[in-house]
Parts: sequence; C-alpha cells; structure tokens
Amino acid sequence: MVVSPKIAPSMLSSDFANLAAEAKRMVDLGADWLHMDIMDGYSRVYNSLCYSGRHFVPNLTIGAPVIESLRKHTSAYLDCHLMVTNPMDYVEQMGKAGASGFTFHVEVAKENWQELVSKIRSAGMRPGVALKPRTPVEDVYPLVEGETPVEMVLVMTVEPGFGGQKFMPSMMDKVGYVRALRQKYPTLDIEVDGGLGPSTIEAAAAAGANCIVAGSSVFGAPEPGKVISLLRTSVEKAQPIT
Ligand code: DX5
Ligand code: ZN
Repeated sequence: MVVSPKIAPSMLSSDFANLAAEAKRMVDLGADWLHMDIMDGYSRVYNSLCYSGRHFVPNLTIGAPVIESLRKHTSAYLDCHLMVTNPMDYVEQMGKAGASGFTFHVEVAKENWQELVSKIRSAGMRPGVALKPRTPVEDVYPLVEGETPVEMVLVMTVEPGFGGQKFMPSMMDKVGYVRALRQKYPTLDIEVDGGLGPSTIEAAAAAGANCIVAGSSVFGAPEPGKVISLLRTSVEKAQPIT
C-alpha cells in the first residue's frame, strides 16, 4: 500500500458560526483534511415535476465564499465534496476560493467528466469522483482508467444530504472493487463518507478505504482527538504502508 490514511472531519457537523476556530481545533487534534460539504439545495415542486431535478440534495449548506473566508484562517487541505447538479459551474470559483480537492458526483457528470477533470486540474485542485449508494460502481471505472483520471473515488455510505445517518455496510463491496483498481493505479485514494466512526471504521478500513470522512462521530465525541486517532490507527493496521 502506498496511499496514506487521511482522516477528514466533516465540517458539516461543526459550529458553522465558529468555522475558523472549529477548523483549527480539528487540525490541532490530528485531522489530515477538512471535509467541506457543498450542497445546492432542493426544490420540492420542481423535483416533483421533473425527475432529473434541478437540485442534487435536499439541503443547502455552504459555497465558495465560505471556502474563501476559511482559507484565510487555515492552510489545511480543504476536501470539497460537491453535491450539486452542475459541478462545472463551480470549478473556477472554488479554485479561486482556495479549495484543495474538488470531488463531483458521477451521476451528474456522465457527459462531461473529461472536461470537468481537466478544468479542476487547471484550477489547481485535485479531482475526485463520488457515487451515491444506488449508483453502480462500474460508473466510475472510466474516470479512474481514462486519459484524464481522477485521483480519488468517494464511495457514499449514506444517501447524501445530511450528517448523522446510519452507515450502509453493503457499500463495502464497492470499496473492494475500487481497491482492485489500485493494482494498476497505486496512488488512488478511496474515501468513504457517511456514518463512519469507531463502530464502523473496521469494515471500511478492511475493505480498502484510506480517506475517512467523519462528522457526527468526531464532533459529537467528548474527546474528538481520540476518535480521529482511532480512525487513523484502524486504517494503518488494515493497510500498512509498504
Ligand atoms: C452527507 C455528507 C457527509 C456528512 C457525514 O451528505 O456528505 O460528509 O457530513 O456526516 P456523518 O459522519 O455524521 O455521517
Ligand atoms: Zn461529504
């Protein structure tokens, strides 16, 4: 294994009114990355009229202006997860704002992922692709194996939209399939997002995930630093660096 563990507290569970302090607290407690959930809201009326929907998730969180503000307070890797219908619209502004990683959803990028990946790179960010629980893992293969490959696959282990949901163990098969691609692409990061914590990390680490997003289990713990180090130790044990 050549990829290292990256523990990424999800700032969605932080106190948004004190974001800079929360970010510093997480980095001081040992976080490798800060996971930023960018969501584009939901229109109930529109979605009932049009299945394709104009919005990706039933929640509205933060955007590039918040990333730009936070960047002034931290040099940490900002692992941005875009749950939006038109990721292309946000590449330039996210790059300028100081995002480090730009992970888009495959469900909304089937037609233009190559252009999207190139633009993400040109904007100085690291491209990643995410997939929802009901999306077949095969959908991301071309993005890993293509000419302009992504550097990370994010396997959603809950339906995107909210923190604090229950981990879906059945998603570990997908993690396993993506892990198999590491034989050819050894630096491929595999991230899991949703319901990760002390009771679920073993399954995710054993399946091959090395980037661990954790919101409620970290922010809700009496000692978040202990959870961060437990998550890291589990990945290190399951996937020793060789
Ligand atoms: C859900 C988000 C997650 C969320 C995870 O759509 O992508 O990053 O914050 O939160 P927990 O760890 O509480 O499930
Ligand atoms: Zn996320």
